[in-house]
Amino acid sequence: MTYLVTYFSRTGNTAALAHQIAMRLGVAEEPILEHGRGDGIWGSLTGAVGAALGRASPVGTPQNDPAGFDLVLIGTPVWAAAVPPAVNGWIDAHRDKCKQVAFFATSGGVGFDRTFSRMRKRIGKAPVAHLAVNADRLNSDETEEALDHFISNLKATQS
Ligand SMILES: Cc1cc2nc3c(=O)[nH]c(=O)nc-3n(C[C@H](O)[C@H](O)[C@H](O)COP(=O)(O)O)c2cc1C
Repeated sequence: MTYLVTYFSRTGNTAALAHQIAMRLGVAEEPILEHGRGDGIWGSLTGAVGAALGRASPVGTPQNDPAGFDLVLIGTPVWAAAVPPAVNGWIDAHRDKCKQVAFFATSGGVGFDRTFSRMRKRIGKAPVAHLAVNADRLNSDETEEALDHFISNLKATQS
């Protein structure tokens, strides 16, 4: 099985989770880079509205072609109980290249189910596994256990 771990992260939480996952799988992780959204309050506001409305924003070309992997893991923060426009943009650009997918997300604790359900609808495939982590429990025993469970679910997946 070959794995691509890709993720969007604005403040580093999802990046940290992506790193933990990638280390456990023995692969490198790749960020989704969004064009044109500022880091300030305006960027947050337009990002939240865009997420709520299911909008997509332009993202950079990935270094790794998702078509070359058996399973693509897509990581996202929850924005307005929905998917950030950058992740929607990545999905729109690459959905046809993803053979199998898994999702992971961080949030303040609200909106995981809705976010995963929207990702699933948009990509047109059910994830083989998903992992939801509260940002304030990133470095906890509970998250370690959830990570182990997530990784064993992935490894049980056939190519
Ligand atoms: C625009 C915006 C909208 C957010 N909406 C939610 C939300 O609906 N529910 C929630 O629990 N946390 C929400 N958060 C908090 C983030 O999901 C959380 O801090 C996440 O871990 C950030 O990931 P990152 O550090 O990878 O960017 C939001 C944060 C931002 C910036």
